[in-house]
Amino acid sequence: MPTLVIVGAQWGDEAKGKLVDVLGSQASLVVRYAGGNNAGHTVIAEGKEFKFHLIPAGILHPGTKAVVGSGMVVCPKGLLEEWDRTLSQKSDLGELIISSAAHVVFPYHRMLDSLEEEARGNNKIGTTSRGIGPAYQDKVARIGIRMGEFVDAARFPSRLREVLEVKNRYMSMFGKEPLNYDDLLAEYTAYADRLRPFVKDIEHMVAESVEAGERVLLEGAQGTFLDLDSGTYPYVTSSHPVAGGACLGTGIGPRHIDAVLGVCKTYTTRVGSGPFVTELNNELGDHIRTIGKEFGTTTGRGRRIGWLDLVALKHACRLNSLSGLVVTRLDILSDFESVQVAIGYELDGQVIEYLPGDADTLSRVKPIYKEFKGWKGNLRGARSMSDLPVEAREYLDFMAEFTRTPVAIVSVGPDRAETIIADESLIWVK
Ligand code: IMP
Repeated sequence: MPTLVIVGAQWGDEAKGKLVDVLGSQASLVVRYAGGNNAGHTVIAEGKEFKFHLIPAGILHPGTKAVVGSGMVVCPKGLLEEWDRTLSQKSDLGELIISSAAHVVFPYHRMLDSLEEEARGNNKIGTTSRGIGPAYQDKVARIGIRMGEFVDAARFPSRLREVLEVKNRYMSMFGKEPLNYDDLLAEYTAYADRLRPFVKDIEHMVAESVEAGERVLLEGAQGTFLDLDSGTYPYVTSSHPVAGGACLGTGIGPRHIDAVLGVCKTYTTRVGSGPFVTELNNELGDHIRTIGKEFGTTTGRGRRIGWLDLVALKHACRLNSLSGLVVTRLDILSDFESVQVAIGYELDGQVIEYLPGDADTLSRVKPIYKEFKGWKGNLRGARSMSDLPVEAREYLDFMAEFTRTPVAIVSVGPDRAETIIADESLIWVK
């Protein structure tokens, strides 16, 4: 039962898309388990750049089933645009399947996302304004519209009427005009008509693949510290990007997961507000942002940049029970005289070696750094660990030793080919 979870081990944007593409070619089934089009994955393959926000990157492989999982919230318009764009770039795609249990994002969710952010004043979360929080609020409040109901022409009109009545009351609270039911129904019925053939119950299909011993890849979005429960609350997203979310968002029980790979950069980035212990609010940070092209795929926002935080990464290894690390963007840190990594924190004059759970406390800690000699040269041609400069290998060895998690894969460039498999046995276990 080679079932593999891929999870972001930092604050998202760890370049998981490329990995899901590389490993997706070896899987029968790729299921994304959480989030919505707040995520953005860029995949460079066959000389083309593919951008995904909702569809698992595994779709690029004919013969692979790419599933939009039950834990996701889906903007139908965004999904159809993405599907049409991907089809126009490549005609031989995998099979797209959308879980009937995934929730639908409507325009009122996006509007409320922006209105709620505005109302937060100085305490903004810095959301992507894609309606993600409000869509998950509806799910938890048990008034959300799921994909199965959405594509059921007999049920959707009355469900929309019922929910819109409530949402329009919120709109008026914010002094906004109500949304028109007929217009919304007409627009969304057209989307539902196109999406109907893709919508299915997925649990039995996923279970059958797992039982048949097929390779199943469970694709996370966002990252560990954006997790609603385990992240830097309230500066988090509204879903569960951690590995546990893979069980919730696909219907697989924890005993059927064989390996969990955590993707992390050789430095740290985050977008939106919230504590960031190793942040480089200086020219060096600006330089890394520029050479690393660290701008959001979804919003275009410049990402905040910092040194690698091993205290946080070790915490992520535990939270996700990582069996291996996938270290990305090693090439970007080339040609620095020295690089730093946080190996401890100072909190109110005391040294601590764990990540405080409270965001306010975390914002008060100071990093304790260990310095490494930098490495030189263009790493993009490296295809094995022995091709890497000794300084880069020492850096990777220290990451593994500190976090007590072995390095499985190293990425040295954006292309599929620019990948080093450090330990194949950590990927498809069994
Ligand atoms: P939301 O998910 O749009 O509600 O945003 C909540 C927080 O999560 C904000 O700080 C966002 O910037 C962050 N966030 C959401 N999705 C991503 C992602 O894919 N990468 C990085 N940050 C994200």
